Parts: sequence; C-alpha cells; structure tokens
Amino acid sequence: LRPLRTVVLGCGVVGGGVIERLPRPLVLTGILARTPRPAGAFPAPVFTNADALFETAPELVIEALPGGDEAEALLARAAGAGCHIVSANKDVAARRPDLIRAARAQGRAFAYSAAVGGGAPVLETVARLAASGAGVARVRGVLNGTSNYVLDRLWEGDSLEAAIAGAQAAGFAEADPSADLDGLDAANKLALIAREAWGADLDPAAIKRESIRELPAGAAAAARRQSRRLRQVGLLERSGARVTAQVRLEALAETDALARTRAEGNCVVLSPERGAQVIVAGKGAGRAPTAASIIGDLNRLIEAHCS
Ligand code: HSE
Repeated sequence: LRPLRTVVLGCGVVGGGVIERLPRPLVLTGILARTPRPAGAFPAPVFTNADALFETAPELVIEALPGGDEAEALLARAAGAGCHIVSANKDVAARRPDLIRAARAQGRAFAYSAAVGGGAPVLETVARLAASGAGVARVRGVLNGTSNYVLDRLWEGDSLEAAIAGAQAAGFAEADPSADLDGLDAANKLALIAREAWGADLDPAAIKRESIRELPAGAAAAARRQSRRLRQVGLLERSGARVTAQVRLEALAETDALARTRAEGNCVVLSPERGAQVIVAGKGAGRAPTAASIIGDLNRLIEAHCS
C-alpha cells in the first residue's frame, strides 16, 4: 500500500483517540494543538502554528477540532491544497457543502461518518436506504449524547450545572455546551442526514429548536412521576420537494425507542417510503465510538486511494 502523509488537527478527546489507532499506511507528519505539548507526548511533531503544519505537505488531513471559524478556515485550506479530508466536524460539514462537493468532484475523499451518531452508523444506514430504493420519508432521533445524558441526570434529580459538568468530564460535550443544550448540534446533524437522504441543503441555523436551558423547573420531576423520559428529539420530514426540520423537547413514554436510549446514547428511527422502519442506535459521543467511526472512514479511504 502507498503511504499517505497525514496530519491530525486537534489532539483532544477525539483526535487523541484517532492518533492512538492510526492505521497503516498512514504516516503521521504532524499534529495541530492549541498549546505546546511536551516532547514525546505524541508520535509526531506537535505544531501550534497551522502554516508550519501545512509545510509538512500533508496528503490527508484528519480534523477533530471544535466547530467554528478556525476549523472551517483550516478545512477550506486543506481542501484548497488538494488534501483528502476525514472530519468529525458536524458544524463545518453542515454549513459548507460546497467544500465537500468540490473535493469529491476532484476525486478526493471528504468523509465525515463520525459527525452523526458517534459510533452508530447513521449516515451509512441513511445512504443505504436511499440507494436501495426504499427511500427515506421521515427521521426521528436522539442525535446529541450530551443532551440525553443531561436529561437523564435531571430526571434522576441532579441539577443542570452538575449534569453539564458530568458531560464535560466524560468528554461528550462540545467546547461550548450551549451547542448541545440549545439543539444546534442536533440541527447540524439533521442537516447532514437531510443531505444524505435527499441531497437537500438545510441551513442548520434556521432549524427551529427548543433549549434545555429553557426547560421549566420541575419538568424532569413531572416526567418522572408520569413514567416518561425527557428527550431532545430531532425531526425531519419530506413532503414532495419540501423538507421540514426541528429540534424539540418531548416527554416520551418509556416504551418509545428514543426514551430507552440511555446516557450518551443516540437512537435514530428511519421511516422509509417503502418498507419497514429501521432503527440505528449506539454510543453517540465520547472518545472510543467517535474515533472508531473516523478509523472506519480512514480504512475506506486507504482502500480507495492507497492501492
Ligand atoms: N457533543 C456531541 C454530543 C458530540 O454530545 O452528541 C458528538 O457529536
């Protein structure tokens, strides 16, 4: 197999997990970190300056940064430099379909399986339904592990602050957890599912959302008394050419598949246009499941581009 010069942007929870398991024939030439790291901490030089990192002439960029402008600029730079890209970034993948389409049109990989569902193959299953002719009519899912974890902790009687701190300590939450709690992370994921299912470009910022921070006091206790679970639910529906999307908070009966999704789990119920429902569930956040999903993208890329 032909070696591929590879850099990793970000060496936090997810980036660190990928670096540990980087498959051959990828050759790590550099890692981008926000702060300097002690010599020997990683198996490649650590740069805090992106110019120096790109001087290592990468052919593949693995991106595991928090979303936002810096990640977007670096991915645009990597795409402009003709690199293959594997990213876990829901935010940039949702907002910049142009980058993805341009890279693929030029025969380069731009993969982002880890952006939805963590370790659960959500985008892969949507693609399979679309390709099989079953189609996708409706999607209903718990798409954010942090929110699910926080809602379960509230249900158990913990405070919102303690629950958020728990999600941060476990490495589920975004750098700014408001993206999780306010539904923007789930909206990004809905936009990616809509693209995979229907080729639709939804603006995640325009998706209607309800925030856990605005949950009335006592809502979790009331749900518990009624044997219901609070869930942040992402919904997508297509009617003709029109796609509607929203993220809302629901108190669900315990028998609902989404209510049975515990802690940082994700669960997506896909209703095809033809045939029976398909349910995809798994660990939606955290180091191991997200890194595993990236490794899957890397192995597919190696198969397609290194032989
Ligand atoms: N913050 C995200 C979540 C990480 O909690 O689901 C995985 O996308």
